[in-house]
Amino acid sequence: MARPLAVLILNAAYAFAQGTAAGGYVGSNVCQACHPDVYLNFYKNPHAKSIASGKEPPERTGCEGCHGPGGAHVAARGGKNTIPRAFSLMSSRQTLDACLTCHAPDLSKANIRRSEHTLNDVACTSCHSIHKAATPKFLLAKQQTELCYGCHAAVRAQFEMPSRHRVNEGFMQCTDCHNPHGTFAPARGMSQRPRMVDQALGNEEACIKCHVDKRGPFAFEHPPVRIEGCEICHYPHGSTNTRLLRRPVVFTLCLQCHNGAGTFGVRNNGEPLTPSSHNLLEPRYQFCTTCHVRIHGSNSDQFFLR
Ligand code: HEC
Ligand code: HEC
Ligand code: HEC
Ligand code: HEC
Ligand code: HEC
Ligand code: HEC
Ligand code: HEC
Ligand code: HEC
Ligand code: HEC
Ligand code: HEC
Repeated sequence: MARPLAVLILNAAYAFAQGTAAGGYVGSNVCQACHPDVYLNFYKNPHAKSIASGKEPPERTGCEGCHGPGGAHVAARGGKNTIPRAFSLMSSRQTLDACLTCHAPDLSKANIRRSEHTLNDVACTSCHSIHKAATPKFLLAKQQTELCYGCHAAVRAQFEMPSRHRVNEGFMQCTDCHNPHGTFAPARGMSQRPRMVDQALGNEEACIKCHVDKRGPFAFEHPPVRIEGCEICHYPHGSTNTRLLRRPVVFTLCLQCHNGAGTFGVRNNGEPLTPSSHNLLEPRYQFCTTCHVRIHGSNSDQFFLR
């Protein structure tokens, strides 16, 4: 199959000389001569569809859809400065702009320009590899979890804790909860940073996608579940406490709010005082959720007792 290099180069030069190079575009086949590895791998790439379809304009087809018109580059027989978009010479912002010429309309990237990643100079090619992808799907530079840990090493330890979501075991991944391309600010907990936590349908927390029984609406809501959000009581990644809780003993969690003084932060939402009938010196009262079993909300009892 392989044609001699010289022939390919000649073909390339011919195509160029014939003026098929409208606007400097020469077509992807021309690139094969000098970049055989890149070219031969490219048919697997979702970006090769633009060649196969034959329906896209030259500036959106194949190699030149990203690298720009290759005429001058071919005529010069190579060189980094002759190809309009040599990514090795581009800033992360320029790379982002190049990719977004096509990907800006993707809904998942609606907030990419103000995402924490973009603001910190982490651009598309920090995570995606067009020509040497480790995952054919989504063209990731590494398997997802390893990719994220590459920059977020501290998070790995959180997913090793006794109570945890099983990300390291491969049952879940970061993007079950996060959108690395940035997210809308959540409607809940407006004072918090959104942390690129993705939303489930209807602007609900990502958690609800899987923990549907916590969705409600309940006849008797426990306000923090909806207003502050799950993270007010749970660590999302991992915890040394059971049930991913933020506190080792349940009652200390409850008393952050139910202390009558509103001393959770500076707020006071009118949480009722833990009633005096509850003698906290008695061990049985320290495990609040042995009685308040429907702590996420109840349809039958105001006090979440059933
Ligand atoms: C979707 C955009 C895109 C398309 C389409 C594309 N490239 Fe690239 N190319 C890149 C990016 C980005 C880099 C920088 C390296 C990286 O991050 O993967 C690159 C790097 C290169 C390099 C430098 C060497 C290397 O392997 O890193 C060559 C040569 C190259 N591309 C040629 C081609 C050819 C030939 C085609 C068509 C067969 C093509 N590219 C199609 C985005 C693209
Ligand atoms: C006649 C041979 C030849 C042809 C044909 C050719 N290239 Fe190249 N190309 C080269 C050489 C040589 C280099 C290496 C330049 C260097 O590293 O200094 C190069 C480098 C590149 C780079 C790397 C720039 C960087 O970031 O370092 C890209 C991208 C590229 N070529 C794209 C293309 C595309 C797209 C085509 C087809 C339109 C094409 N080339 C056709 C010879 C060629
Ligand atoms: C911090 C890492 C990271 C950055 C930066 C990043 N991506 Fe992604 N991207 C991912 C991951 C991870 C997925 C897989 C998502 C999944 O598993 O649902 C993905 C998926 C995609 C997809 C396919 C699914 C979708 O959401 O549309 C496209 C297209 C894409 N990215 C393009 C881009 C472009 C273009 C840029 C730059 C403007 C970019 N990405 C920046 C990590 C990143
Ligand atoms: C010329 C338009 C164009 C440019 C420029 C472009 N893309 Fe794409 N990209 C597409 C199209 C079209 C698809 C295929 C979508 C599909 O399969 O329906 C795609 C697919 C992808 C996918 C894979 C989605 C999947 O589902 O597996 C990723 C990741 C991606 N692009 C990242 C990038 C990155 C990173 C850049 C910049 C280096 C870039 N793209 C530049 C048009 C483009
Ligand atoms: C079960 C859902 C979930 C999964 C899975 C998840 N996260 Fe998170 N992550 C969150 C939530 C929710 C927050 C916000 C916590 C807060 O604001 O208190 C967060 C916060 C973060 C933060 C910022 C705060 C910090 O701890 O530094 C980083 C970075 C982060 N996650 C990275 C990751 C990475 C990397 C993965 C995959 C290895 C991952 N997350 C998997 C839900 C998740
Ligand atoms: C190339 C390095 C790099 C990669 C790869 C990377 N990140 Fe980040 N990430 C950063 C930087 C830098 C920040 C901003 C500073 C910080 O908060 O640590 C950030 C911030 C975040 C935040 C916190 C946002 C906030 O509001 O505080 C989350 C969540 C996050 N990344 C998730 C991910 C996930 C999920 C992946 C994998 C798909 C990933 N990151 C891959 C570098 C990276
Ligand atoms: C992709 C699905 C998914 C998402 C999204 C998700 N979880 Fe989970 N969660 C699970 C599964 C599955 C378990 C069962 C525990 C296991 O994997 O061992 C679990 C367990 C838990 C547990 C109990 C842990 C224990 O030790 O018993 C809590 C608490 C929890 N999740 C809270 C959350 C919160 C808060 C969020 C949002 C930040 C969230 N989950 C998002 C799937 C999910
Ligand atoms: C007011 C504090 C609080 C809030 C807010 C909260 N939880 Fe919980 N959650 C708890 C406590 C306490 C337990 C442990 C109950 C027990 O002792 O068994 C728990 C247990 C769980 C469990 C494991 C047992 C079960 O019921 O399935 C899951 C899963 C869970 N929570 C998910 C969530 C999700 C998802 C959200 C947000 C929609 C959320 N929690 C919000 C306090 C809270
Ligand atoms: C982040 C603050 C916060 C935390 C933490 C919290 N609560 Fe609440 N709780 C509230 C608020 C606000 C109300 C609603 C008060 C109202 O209806 O006026 C409430 C209501 C209740 C009620 C119903 C009271 C009534 O009169 O209807 C019970 C019972 C309750 N909480 C128990 C608990 C228990 C048990 C815990 C610990 C697992 C806990 N709460 C943790 C804020 C909190
Ligand atoms: C032995 C069962 C039991 C335990 C354990 C328990 N409670 Fe209660 N709690 C009740 C009952 C029954 C009521 C409703 C009647 C009442 O006010 O005594 C109630 C009511 C409440 C109310 C609502 C008071 C009001 O005036 O609206 C709050 C708040 C509350 N409990 C918090 C807690 C907290 C915090 C803990 C853990 C320190 C806890 N409970 C442990 C049984 C229990």
